[in-house]
Amino acid sequence: MTFSRKRVGVLISGRGSNMRSLVEAARAPDFPAEITLVLSNIANAAGLEFARKQGVATTVVDHKAFSDRESFERAMHETLVGRGVELVCLAGFMRLLTPWFVEQWRGRMLNIHPALLPSFRGLHTHARALEEGVKIHGATVHFVVPEMDAGPIVVQAAVAVLEDDTPEALGARVLAQEHRIYPLALNLVARGAARVEGARVKIEGERPAPDALVWPRA
Ligand code: GAR
Repeated sequence: MTFSRKRVGVLISGRGSNMRSLVEAARAPDFPAEITLVLSNIANAAGLEFARKQGVATTVVDHKAFSDRESFERAMHETLVGRGVELVCLAGFMRLLTPWFVEQWRGRMLNIHPALLPSFRGLHTHARALEEGVKIHGATVHFVVPEMDAGPIVVQAAVAVLEDDTPEALGARVLAQEHRIYPLALNLVARGAARVEGARVKIEGERPAPDALVWPRA
Protein backbone atom coordinates (compact mmCIF):
# COMPACT_ATOMS: atom_id res chain seq x y z
CA MET A 1 0.00 0.00 0.00
CA THR A 2 1.36 3.42 -0.83
CA PHE A 3 1.46 5.87 2.04
CA SER A 4 1.71 9.54 1.33
CA ARG A 5 2.45 11.95 4.11
CA LYS A 6 0.91 15.37 4.15
CA ARG A 7 3.47 18.12 3.73
CA VAL A 8 3.31 20.49 6.69
CA GLY A 9 4.64 24.01 7.16
CA VAL A 10 5.03 25.11 10.79
CA LEU A 11 4.93 28.84 11.52
CA ILE A 12 6.77 30.06 14.61
CA SER A 13 7.84 33.34 16.19
CA GLY A 14 9.95 32.22 19.14
CA ARG A 15 10.95 29.27 21.27
CA GLY A 16 9.23 26.73 19.05
CA SER A 17 8.63 24.00 21.61
CA ASN A 18 5.35 23.02 19.95
CA MET A 19 7.08 22.88 16.59
CA ARG A 20 9.61 20.61 18.23
CA SER A 21 6.88 18.25 19.43
CA LEU A 22 5.56 18.09 15.86
CA VAL A 23 9.01 17.43 14.38
CA GLU A 24 9.62 14.69 16.94
CA ALA A 25 6.23 13.04 16.36
CA ALA A 26 6.73 13.14 12.59
CA ARG A 27 9.86 11.02 12.95
CA ALA A 28 7.65 7.97 13.49
CA PRO A 29 7.50 6.03 10.23
CA ASP A 30 3.72 5.70 10.41
CA PHE A 31 3.04 9.39 11.19
CA PRO A 32 0.80 10.70 8.39
CA ALA A 33 2.59 14.05 8.02
CA GLU A 34 6.10 15.33 7.47
CA ILE A 35 7.42 18.71 8.56
CA THR A 36 8.51 20.14 5.23
CA LEU A 37 9.29 23.66 6.36
CA VAL A 38 9.61 25.73 9.51
CA LEU A 39 8.90 29.38 8.74
CA SER A 40 9.54 32.20 11.18
CA ASN A 41 8.73 35.89 10.99
CA ILE A 42 11.58 36.52 13.46
CA ALA A 43 15.10 35.94 12.15
CA ASN A 44 16.59 34.87 15.48
CA ALA A 45 13.67 32.78 16.74
CA ALA A 46 15.19 30.13 18.99
CA GLY A 47 13.14 27.38 17.38
CA LEU A 48 14.90 27.80 14.04
CA GLU A 49 18.12 26.44 15.46
CA PHE A 50 16.45 23.24 16.63
CA ALA A 51 14.79 22.72 13.24
CA ARG A 52 18.07 23.24 11.37
CA LYS A 53 19.84 20.73 13.60
CA GLN A 54 17.11 18.23 12.83
CA GLY A 55 17.67 18.72 9.11
CA VAL A 56 14.29 20.41 8.64
CA ALA A 57 14.23 23.22 6.07
CA THR A 58 13.79 26.65 7.60
CA THR A 59 13.05 30.07 6.22
CA VAL A 60 12.53 33.56 7.57
CA VAL A 61 9.89 35.93 6.24
CA ASP A 62 10.48 39.06 8.31
CA HIS A 63 7.27 41.03 8.65
CA LYS A 64 9.27 44.22 9.23
CA ALA A 65 10.58 44.02 5.67
CA PHE A 66 7.09 44.58 4.25
CA SER A 67 5.08 47.79 4.09
CA ASP A 68 1.78 46.15 4.97
CA ARG A 69 0.37 42.98 6.44
CA GLU A 70 -1.00 41.62 3.21
CA SER A 71 2.28 41.81 1.27
CA PHE A 72 4.00 40.04 4.18
CA GLU A 73 1.36 37.33 4.05
CA ARG A 74 1.58 37.03 0.26
CA ALA A 75 5.31 36.36 0.64
CA MET A 76 4.63 33.70 3.30
CA HIS A 77 1.92 32.15 1.19
CA GLU A 78 4.15 31.96 -1.90
CA THR A 79 6.92 30.38 0.16
CA LEU A 80 4.57 27.76 1.57
CA VAL A 81 3.03 26.95 -1.80
CA GLY A 82 6.49 26.89 -3.40
CA ARG A 83 7.53 24.14 -0.97
CA GLY A 84 4.44 22.12 -1.69
CA VAL A 85 2.98 22.66 1.78
CA GLU A 86 -0.50 21.14 2.19
CA LEU A 87 -1.20 21.87 5.86
CA VAL A 88 -0.08 24.80 8.01
CA CYS A 89 0.43 24.58 11.77
CA LEU A 90 0.67 27.83 13.71
CA ALA A 91 2.90 27.12 16.69
CA GLY A 92 3.41 30.24 18.75
CA PHE A 93 3.17 32.40 15.63
CA MET A 94 2.51 35.82 17.11
CA ARG A 95 1.17 37.77 14.11
CA LEU A 96 -2.51 38.28 13.51
CA LEU A 97 -3.48 36.90 10.11
CA THR A 98 -5.76 38.69 7.64
CA PRO A 99 -8.93 37.07 6.33
CA TRP A 100 -7.13 36.82 2.97
CA PHE A 101 -4.40 34.53 4.33
CA VAL A 102 -6.84 32.54 6.45
CA GLU A 103 -9.01 32.00 3.38
CA GLN A 104 -6.07 30.61 1.38
CA TRP A 105 -5.64 27.91 4.04
CA ARG A 106 -9.22 27.42 5.17
CA GLY A 107 -9.67 23.90 6.50
CA ARG A 108 -5.92 23.33 6.14
CA MET A 109 -4.51 25.47 8.96
CA LEU A 110 -4.33 24.59 12.66
CA ASN A 111 -3.44 26.69 15.69
CA ILE A 112 -2.60 25.81 19.26
CA HIS A 113 -3.88 28.05 22.00
CA PRO A 114 -2.95 27.82 25.70
CA ALA A 115 -6.49 27.77 27.11
CA LEU A 116 -9.71 25.82 26.85
CA LEU A 117 -11.38 27.80 24.07
CA PRO A 118 -13.72 29.57 23.84
CA SER A 119 -12.49 30.74 27.27
CA PHE A 120 -9.47 33.01 27.45
CA ARG A 121 -8.83 34.01 23.88
CA GLY A 122 -5.83 36.29 23.37
CA LEU A 123 -2.75 36.70 25.53
CA HIS A 124 -1.78 36.02 29.17
CA THR A 125 -4.21 33.13 29.38
CA HIS A 126 -2.69 31.52 32.49
CA ALA A 127 -2.70 34.72 34.57
CA ARG A 128 -6.27 35.42 33.49
CA ALA A 129 -7.38 31.88 34.34
CA LEU A 130 -5.94 32.32 37.83
CA GLU A 131 -7.61 35.73 38.21
CA GLU A 132 -10.97 34.28 37.23
CA GLY A 133 -10.53 31.42 39.68
CA VAL A 134 -11.30 28.65 37.19
CA LYS A 135 -10.59 25.18 38.55
CA ILE A 136 -9.87 23.58 35.18
CA HIS A 137 -7.66 25.13 32.51
CA GLY A 138 -5.96 23.65 29.46
CA ALA A 139 -5.06 23.86 25.80
CA THR A 140 -6.84 23.67 22.47
CA VAL A 141 -5.90 22.81 18.90
CA HIS A 142 -8.37 24.29 16.43
CA PHE A 143 -8.79 25.06 12.76
CA VAL A 144 -8.07 28.70 12.02
CA VAL A 145 -10.86 31.04 10.97
CA PRO A 146 -10.67 34.81 10.48
CA GLU A 147 -11.80 35.53 14.05
CA MET A 148 -8.86 35.33 16.47
CA ASP A 149 -8.59 32.19 18.64
CA ALA A 150 -11.84 30.80 17.29
CA GLY A 151 -12.65 28.01 14.85
CA PRO A 152 -13.61 24.34 14.93
CA ILE A 153 -11.90 22.53 17.82
CA VAL A 154 -9.91 19.37 17.03
CA VAL A 155 -8.42 18.38 20.40
CA GLN A 156 -8.44 19.76 23.93
CA ALA A 157 -6.59 18.78 27.08
CA ALA A 158 -7.47 19.89 30.59
CA VAL A 159 -5.31 20.45 33.65
CA ALA A 160 -6.41 21.10 37.22
CA VAL A 161 -5.66 24.53 38.65
CA LEU A 162 -3.87 24.18 42.00
CA GLU A 163 -4.40 26.34 45.07
CA ASP A 164 -0.92 27.85 45.03
CA ASP A 165 -0.47 28.04 41.25
CA THR A 166 1.44 30.82 39.56
CA PRO A 167 0.97 31.69 35.88
CA GLU A 168 4.40 30.12 35.24
CA ALA A 169 3.67 26.84 37.06
CA LEU A 170 0.22 26.51 35.51
CA GLY A 171 1.61 27.44 32.10
CA ALA A 172 4.28 24.76 32.35
CA ARG A 173 1.66 22.07 33.00
CA VAL A 174 -0.48 23.37 30.15
CA LEU A 175 2.55 23.42 27.84
CA ALA A 176 3.24 19.76 28.61
CA GLN A 177 -0.30 19.03 27.42
CA GLU A 178 0.17 21.20 24.33
CA HIS A 179 3.09 18.99 23.38
CA ARG A 180 0.80 15.95 23.58
CA ILE A 181 -2.19 17.32 21.75
CA TYR A 182 -0.63 19.13 18.80
CA PRO A 183 0.89 15.95 17.33
CA LEU A 184 -2.36 14.14 18.08
CA ALA A 185 -4.42 16.77 16.27
CA LEU A 186 -2.08 16.86 13.30
CA ASN A 187 -2.20 13.08 13.09
CA LEU A 188 -6.02 13.13 13.03
CA VAL A 189 -6.23 15.92 10.46
CA ALA A 190 -3.45 14.60 8.19
CA ARG A 191 -5.03 11.17 7.93
CA GLY A 192 -8.47 12.60 7.36
CA ALA A 193 -9.92 11.28 10.64
CA ALA A 194 -10.87 14.79 11.82
CA ARG A 195 -13.25 16.59 9.51
CA VAL A 196 -14.90 19.97 9.82
CA GLU A 197 -18.68 19.83 9.83
CA GLY A 198 -20.05 23.34 10.25
CA ALA A 199 -18.65 24.82 13.44
CA ARG A 200 -17.54 21.46 14.82
CA VAL A 201 -14.96 18.81 14.08
CA LYS A 202 -16.13 15.28 13.74
CA ILE A 203 -13.61 12.64 14.81
CA GLU A 204 -13.95 9.34 13.06
CA GLY A 205 -14.04 6.11 14.99
CA GLU A 206 -13.41 7.56 18.46
CA ARG A 207 -15.61 7.55 21.55
CA PRO A 208 -14.68 9.57 24.63
CA ALA A 209 -14.25 8.01 28.02
CA PRO A 210 -16.74 9.93 30.21
CA ASP A 211 -13.91 11.25 32.40
CA ALA A 212 -11.40 11.93 29.60
CA LEU A 213 -9.04 14.83 30.26
CA VAL A 214 -7.65 14.69 26.74
CA TRP A 215 -10.16 14.40 23.99
CA PRO A 216 -9.86 12.72 21.60
CA ARG A 217 -7.59 10.28 23.36
CA ALA A 218 -3.83 10.55 22.97
C1 GAR B 1 2.46 28.22 23.32
O1 GAR B 1 2.05 28.12 24.65
C2 GAR B 1 1.26 28.49 22.42
O2 GAR B 1 0.12 27.81 22.84
C3 GAR B 1 1.11 29.98 22.55
O3 GAR B 1 2.42 30.47 22.54
C4 GAR B 1 3.29 29.49 23.09
C5 GAR B 1 4.41 29.25 22.11
O4 GAR B 1 5.38 28.42 22.66
N1 GAR B 1 0.34 30.51 21.49
C6 GAR B 1 -0.48 31.55 21.63
O5 GAR B 1 -0.62 32.15 22.67
C7 GAR B 1 -1.21 31.94 20.36
N2 GAR B 1 -2.34 32.77 20.68
P1 GAR B 1 6.36 27.61 21.73
O6 GAR B 1 7.01 28.64 20.81
O7 GAR B 1 7.34 27.00 22.68
O8 GAR B 1 5.57 26.60 20.97
